[in-house]
Amino acid sequence: MAKGFEMKGPAYDTVARTLHWLTVLLVSMQFVIGWTMPDIHKDTQPVNLIAWHLGVGATLVAVMAIRVIWRLTHWPAPDELPPLLSVVSRITHVLLYAALVLVPLLGWINASSRGWTVRLLGVVPFPALSEQGSAFGHEMGDVHGILAWVLFALIGLHVVAALFHRFVLKDHVLQRMLPHARPARNQVRDR
Ligand code: HEM
Ligand code: HEM
Repeated sequence: MAKGFEMKGPAYDTVARTLHWLTVLLVSMQFVIGWTMPDIHKDTQPVNLIAWHLGVGATLVAVMAIRVIWRLTHWPAPDELPPLLSVVSRITHVLLYAALVLVPLLGWINASSRGWTVRLLGVVPFPALSEQGSAFGHEMGDVHGILAWVLFALIGLHVVAALFHRFVLKDHVLQRMLPHARPARNQVRDR
């Protein structure tokens, strides 16, 4: 290897990659449950699929809190894509993070306004984020459903982009996030 060059580890560390794929699992579950659970009316009780939506949702809130803190304290190696592609990818990632924080928060606000306590693993209670019966909480439930579609669209774009990198551009972007990512060529750094 040329003097001054060194192979670094994968762009995203093990914690970041674990959190990414854990998020994928939890968010996928939330879409399936959210779109198959019964319609919620005034007297609906949070049981069965609705209880699952709240329980998995609470786990996602906790995972996202850890993920955001981890991301702000552990920056991945730069992607070194052409400038335009790099900017588009950054914007998409920021929007994904925003939706991954907002959608669960709005669902939690709506649950509070229905008088439902959101519990982590069915045990640890989260505080209420809105008054029981509040109009604000009710409206945020509608926004939750709409923003879930926005998140869905962003994920679609994100997955198509990941596959485009892998099969069309044939670069190392997908490998940056895979479980057994090897150091990519674009991570060889001049020190
Ligand atoms: C990314 C994570 C989430 C996704 C993708 C998601 C998705 C959905 C979807 C698709 C619906 C049905 C909306 C409709 O048909 O109008 C829904 C409803 C709901 N979700 Fe979520 N959800 C997520 C997280 C959460 C969390 C964390 C909570 C609470 C802790 C939550 C609480 C609720 C409640 C209470 C409703 C009923 C809202 C209403 O009908 O007014 N969700 N969710
Ligand atoms: C629920 C579905 C998904 C969500 C919410 C999601 C979310 C995210 C977010 C927020 C990032 C930015 C990471 C950071 O910079 O901290 C990211 C990166 C990444 N994701 Fe996903 N992702 C999902 C599914 C997938 C799938 C299915 C693939 C593969 C086909 C994938 C491949 C990647 C790759 C390769 C990166 C790194 C990109 C880069 O460094 O430029 N993701 N994802």
